[in-house]
Amino acid sequence: MIVTIDGPAGAGKSTVARELAARLGYLFLDTGAMYRAATYAVMQTGDLQNQKSRLAVTRGIQIDLGDGVVFVDGDDVTGPIRTAEVTENIHYLADDSSVRAVLVDRQRAIANGQSVVTEGRDQGTVAFPEAECKIFLTASPQERARRRQAERAARGEEVSVDDIRAAQEMRDERDKSRLVGALKKAGDAVEVVTDGMTIEDVIASLEALVQKK
Ligand code: DC
Repeated sequence: MIVTIDGPAGAGKSTVARELAARLGYLFLDTGAMYRAATYAVMQTGDLQNQKSRLAVTRGIQIDLGDGVVFVDGDDVTGPIRTAEVTENIHYLADDSSVRAVLVDRQRAIANGQSVVTEGRDQGTVAFPEAECKIFLTASPQERARRRQAERAARGEEVSVDDIRAAQEMRDERDKSRLVGALKKAGDAVEVVTDGMTIEDVIASLEALVQKK
């Protein structure tokens, strides 16, 4: 069984998808981490502005996703791929259809023959259009920004909800308007709006959706 969870930044996808996979005994696939890892690798050894370089580096690296850890060619890049600098540069790769094709192929290879919960922007639409259970997880922009602010405050970072919301709106717009792999709800996905729900509520409702399938 393939379960896809797509949705905008800050909807709580990662936390929910990881825990849902653990409860079901499925593999968890964090595809955002793959875009982050490839972006980081291009920043280290290539040229973000150069299409050939982006593609060559992406093709040439091995990305391994462990339990909450990410490796590029054996190096642990779990921390470095979450920096603001990487986040700001991801669009170079995420907007590049040939890079996307390489990563989508790898996502399918990882999922091949296994039960997975896969999370991203295009999992139900492009990577796994035949998935049995598709979820579009979202929340209002203010709620998503508020959650991000709380997460960052817990890490000791001082950022206002308004600043987070402004950056989030730019990312949403980019994610929705890219020509290939844009963020959109698959026709056969179930939309879950998580405003006012606890993480536990969300996981329980998704688990019920999967069990129904
Ligand atoms: O889920 P995340 O914030 O770690 O994702 C990082 C970026 O990667 C996000 O801005 C959009 C991009 N992405 C994508 O284009 N396609 C995916 N399947 C997953 C992420």
